This record gives sequence, C-alpha cells and structure tokens, in this order.
Amino acid sequence: MTTSARTKFSPDELTQISLGFEGQRPEEMLRWAFDAFGSGVGIAASFGGASGAVIMDMALKLKPDVTIFYLDTDFLFPETYAYIDAFTKRYGVTPVAYKSRLTPEQQAARHGPALWQRDPDKCCDLRKVEPNARALAGLSAWATGIRRDQSGARGGVNLVEWNKKFGLVKLNPVAAWTKKEVWAYIFEHKVPYNLLLDQGYKSIGCTHCTRAVGANEDERAGRWSGTDKTECGLHT
Ligand code: ADX
Repeated sequence: MTTSARTKFSPDELTQISLGFEGQRPEEMLRWAFDAFGSGVGIAASFGGASGAVIMDMALKLKPDVTIFYLDTDFLFPETYAYIDAFTKRYGVTPVAYKSRLTPEQQAARHGPALWQRDPDKCCDLRKVEPNARALAGLSAWATGIRRDQSGARGGVNLVEWNKKFGLVKLNPVAAWTKKEVWAYIFEHKVPYNLLLDQGYKSIGCTHCTRAVGANEDERAGRWSGTDKTECGLHT
C-alpha cells in the first residue's frame, strides 16, 4: 500500500503537522484527525493502561460513533474483560474485538506449549501484531495511548506520524502528557479504568507476561519482566 493510497499527507507534511500540535491539547489533534479522515480513524484500546482510557473519553466526546477496537489475545486479565464490560455500559459503545487466527490450543499444538515463555516475540506476533494489521485494514489513521514518559524507547515518539509498519497515519494524542496529567484527566472526568491499576499494576498486557511493580519501578518494568523484551511489536 503506498502512502498516497491511505493518506492525503506525505510523511514530511505529517511531521510538520505533528510539530504544530506540540503544546496543544490532545483534543485538538483528534478534532483535526476526524476532520481529515472522518470514519477512517480507529482508536486502539488495550483496556489496560490509563492513557487509553483518556483517549477513548476524548474521542467519544468529539465523535460518538468513532471506531474503537482491541486485540483480544485470549490472555487478557479478568479485570480487563470486566473493564471492557464497564466501558461498554458507561458509554453505550461496543468496542470491536480482533483475535488471533489461532486459539490458544491451536497455538500450543502448532508452536508448542507456553510459547510466550520460549519465544515471546512470536507469541506477540500471533496474538497482537497480525490481528492489529487486520484491525487497521481499511483505516486511514489509528490512535494509540503511547506516551514519551513511559520508557526510553518511547521518548522520541511524534504526536502524528506516518506508520510505515502498518501503512497508515499514527496518532499519539497523549504522547506529550505525563502520567500525572493522565490521572488528573481520569479523575476530573470520572473516566472508568482498569482496576488492576489500583493494585500495583502500572502497564497491563497479557496475564502470562505482566506483573505488578513496586512503587519505584518503571511503568513498563512489569511487562515481559526478566527478559530483554520491552515492546510487543505494535510500536516498533
Ligand atoms: S504494548 O507493548 O502492549 O503495545 P502498552 O500496553 O503501553 O504497550 O500499550 C500502548 C498502546 O498500544 C495502547 O495505548 C494501545 O493504543 C495499543 N495497544 C496495546 N495493546 C493493545 C490491545 N490489546 N488492543 C488494542 N490496542 C492495544
């Protein structure tokens, strides 16, 4: 897919647009994206982290019929599924689930048991990256909850960028926000969030590869803990 087929902006133009949104409220960028791409914008929600809760609330206030999707890896926490139910009731919106082409049983039969331990990259490919590509097919832009203050690797992300890996525009509306700003928004607007965030979890993915963290540990220290893996592949 060429750039022009999925966006009317070149990568350079997107860089300029991104710079223009520095220092502005995330809603400004979302408003621009809905004007530019209409129903071609999708919100990728992990239903884990706090940033996603903020973006969904902002996006739904601007465009009540915005597409919200999540990658149901089959290994999400019970609290995450409970939060998805609570979200659906609160906003009257049903997020679209995308699953791996393999059930956990098929994955074990084909790739062996506990693939997440032996080859976590492969497991993430099968359960997140490939389903994400399907979720993004037909969209012009996707919005994610990544923030610069989450890790060194995320320190340089743009607010708006051409996402070469998936072939569409990527919006990171709260990239420049701090964790404190995210939580201030959540409390001010009474936004529902994943209750594991009150139980020592700071970043939440799959059960097998997520643990609670200590007060002084990094936000993402509980993801693929004990390995050198830091990203699932959606943002690399
Ligand atoms: S990640 O490594 O799992 O991608 P993180 O949990 O910090 O990291 O999520 C960052 C952003 O990636 C989320 O705000 C969301 O936009 C997207 N994302 C992560 N997991 C999912 C998921 N299961 N479904 C949809 N989007 C997701």
